[in-house]
Amino acid sequence: ALESTLAILKPDLLADPRQVTQVENEIQRRFRVSQRKQVFWATKEAEEFYQEHHGKLFFNRLVGYMTSGPLIALALTGPHVISEWRLLMGQTRPPQMRVLKPETLRAKFGLTDTRNSFHGSDSVASARRELDFFFGSGSYDRFLKA
Ligand code: CMP
Repeated sequence: ALESTLAILKPDLLADPRQVTQVENEIQRRFRVSQRKQVFWATKEAEEFYQEHHGKLFFNRLVGYMTSGPLIALALTGPHVISEWRLLMGQTRPPQMRVLKPETLRAKFGLTDTRNSFHGSDSVASARRELDFFFGSGSYDRFLKA
């Protein structure tokens, strides 16, 4: 089915503009980019976005990382784009991905289990919430129709 998803290029990736260019070129080859936005989160925005991880041991580290520099939010649209983007990105832990899936973006660019360079929505429900968070209410349906 046609879907939209939220991809985030995280602060460690943005530290090197050449990496951003390389990754965005690959994304544009594979997916339609419906909207793009660079933001610099305050603590409360990171805490709200990651509310499902509140109380976990790594929560403060995650919020500190995601507020350490600017990030780029991309709305991607295409057939099965939620799982397609997660396949390209790879799973959470870059060191593990370098062994199991060296062709993934997290294997190539990720630094640590926290500083893993990318985010991708994990379901249609998450994509709706996360796209609304960045691009305003009703974004998901707007991107599907456009
Ligand atoms: P992601 O899996 O997309 O969403 C949760 C994020 O929290 C994850 O990417 C990492 O950036 C971070 N994270 C996940 N697990 C850990 C961990 N064990 N230690 C530190 N950070 C983590």
